[in-house]
Amino acid sequence: MMIVILLGPPGCGKGTQSKMIEETREIVQLSTGEMLRGEVAAGSDVGKRAKEIIEAGKFVPDELIVELVSNRIQKPDCENGFILDGFPRTLPQAEALNVLLDSHGLAIDHVIEIAVEEDTLVGRITGRYSCDTCGAGYHEEFQKPEIEGKCDKCGGHDFSKRADDNEETVRARLVEYHALTEPIIGYYEKAGVLSKVDGMAHIDEVTRQIDGILS
Ligand code: AP5
Repeated sequence: MMIVILLGPPGCGKGTQSKMIEETREIVQLSTGEMLRGEVAAGSDVGKRAKEIIEAGKFVPDELIVELVSNRIQKPDCENGFILDGFPRTLPQAEALNVLLDSHGLAIDHVIEIAVEEDTLVGRITGRYSCDTCGAGYHEEFQKPEIEGKCDKCGGHDFSKRADDNEETVRARLVEYHALTEPIIGYYEKAGVLSKVDGMAHIDEVTRQIDGILS
């Protein structure tokens, strides 16, 4: 059982690296952003509440996210452990997570901060796209498919961009990150579970650094 949290601003590589860990360590990626986008696509009540908030680059209410995570970690595919990608994002979420894990007799093994310079983040996000069929992530410059227009993972030909991946929304997401998420770095440092990797490095090098922490 291993519980890992990836922490960092929008575009730092949390999703990219979570998928790598998922493959090599056989633990499941739990992305609260993906969960919310799934709810929006399904047109659920949660999705209806979340859609406008996400597209404005704001955070959805803590209690809504905590409930989503609480339900998700009880599914059988979490038995080997999980990587939390995009959660917690506020101090109340971090505190709620502790209570939740405690109640299941679980604890966080590693919190990994992926540090990236602010100027780099906007370009990473505005150039990002993913496969409509399998969700594999790409970047127009930094992570192209081997054959242009064809997904490496499933061979799909249709790709799309997220509704919140435009410069204006990214800037709003960064404001939220600095105000509400950054304080939890100190929280986990005090708890003695925090490590930091250089998110400015090549994707493979970041994976190598994370692997070193998890090994
Ligand atoms: P979410 O989906 O979690 O978005 P985010 O945190 O803004 O993070 P991103 O997915 O944009 O970036 P990432 O770090 O995963 O980067 P990626 O690996 O794709 O959340 C979306 C929204 O949902 C939030 O704004 C909020 O409204 C809501 N929400 C979600 N969770 C919430 C919570 N807990 N509480 C409240 N609200 C919540 O990489 C980006 C690009 O860069 C890719 O194209 C990739 O190929 C490329 N790349 C990655 N690493 C590198 C590298 N080392 N070098 C070069 N390129 C790289």
